[in-house]
Amino acid sequence: MDDADLIEQRKADHLRLSASADVEALAGAGWQDVRLVHDALPEVDQCAIDLSVAFLGKQLAAPLLIAGMTGGHRTAREVNAVLARAAERHGLAMGVGSQRAALRRHDLAYTYTVVRDQAPNAMLIANIGAPQLVDQDDAPALTRAEVQSAIDMIHADALAVHLNFLQESVQPEGERRAAGCADAIREVAGYVGVPVVAKETGAGLSRATACRLRELGVRALDVGGVGGTSFAAVEGLRAAAQGVTPSERLGEVLRDWGIPTPVSVIGALAAGLPVVATGGIRSGLDAAKALALGATLVGVARPLLQAALQGDAAVEAWIGQFLLELRTVMFLTGSADLAALRAQPRVVTGTTRQWLEQLKY
Ligand SMILES: Cc1cc2nc3c(=O)[nH]c(=O)nc-3n(C[C@H](O)[C@H](O)[C@H](O)COP(=O)(O)O)c2cc1C
Repeated sequence: MDDADLIEQRKADHLRLSASADVEALAGAGWQDVRLVHDALPEVDQCAIDLSVAFLGKQLAAPLLIAGMTGGHRTAREVNAVLARAAERHGLAMGVGSQRAALRRHDLAYTYTVVRDQAPNAMLIANIGAPQLVDQDDAPALTRAEVQSAIDMIHADALAVHLNFLQESVQPEGERRAAGCADAIREVAGYVGVPVVAKETGAGLSRATACRLRELGVRALDVGGVGGTSFAAVEGLRAAAQGVTPSERLGEVLRDWGIPTPVSVIGALAAGLPVVATGGIRSGLDAAKALALGATLVGVARPLLQAALQGDAAVEAWIGQFLLELRTVMFLTGSADLAALRAQPRVVTGTTRQWLEQLKY
């Protein structure tokens, strides 16, 4: 297999394992530690609740980002098509998965371009990895032209640069050179014509890292915290199938590594940028809590992948239920819109509270 075929195979493995294997962080995100306060006398009609929100200059009908997941092989095209149709129908934002596969093999671009075909008006976010912005042992850094072509490929409204060093650490063939990534992100943020989102993928952001990312010129932070899909678990399973025992073990040991999503959201707010709460958002109630903590959007990956593999109706049902739950919680807190939800009091208990106290957030 050449390099591009390997990437294609890896992407297919990720999809299959994430959809069907036991790959969630065992610790959970800790949403049960965050409680909102019931309002017995809400002065708002449930049907009048406004879920709309502005994000990086775009108006969305609801604060949900279909998190970047896939592309680069045939099944990925179908998943992307189903999810893009949902983004278009509901006025949501959507990300694609890492576009490196198509930058190396142009015949795979159709697995990403389908997203703009199916969602001509939705906010779309292109995706490249920070490790690909520096020279790795087996691959040179992406050029400016390649970065720009990832954006052009889907006529993206923003570019996510993912930070996935936990995944790269566990992946047997992972790319572990990180020195120079910060400068490279600063450079990318300077020359691309769209806002750059710095995006963790399941290990979370600390307050200090969030503030450094702001200094680099990124315009939003997707915290990708611990609590949902664990890429240590996913890569550990791949390593097990390949018989690479040290990586398999590393995946088990680091399955819960990182900063839980609610803690990451509160930490990242200090940077003063819009924050996307991704990582273990599994209901409209989780979402309401994240939004009350200060997130501008919530991102959802694995549940929407599982639904997308079943088709349009399953995605429609998932999003419908999610919005019903979010709207209901907003009603029960007397929040007419997301600004009001954000201003609601909340109670933080348990492990999440300990994290916040000990980090002095
Ligand atoms: C199958 C799969 C593939 C993913 N691929 C990417 C990717 O290529 N780039 C990226 O930035 N994030 C990727 N992610 C990470 C998600 O965007 C998200 O941060 C993470 O899955 C946590 O969200 P969840 O708990 O709702 O799944 C992927 C997630 C899944 C499930």
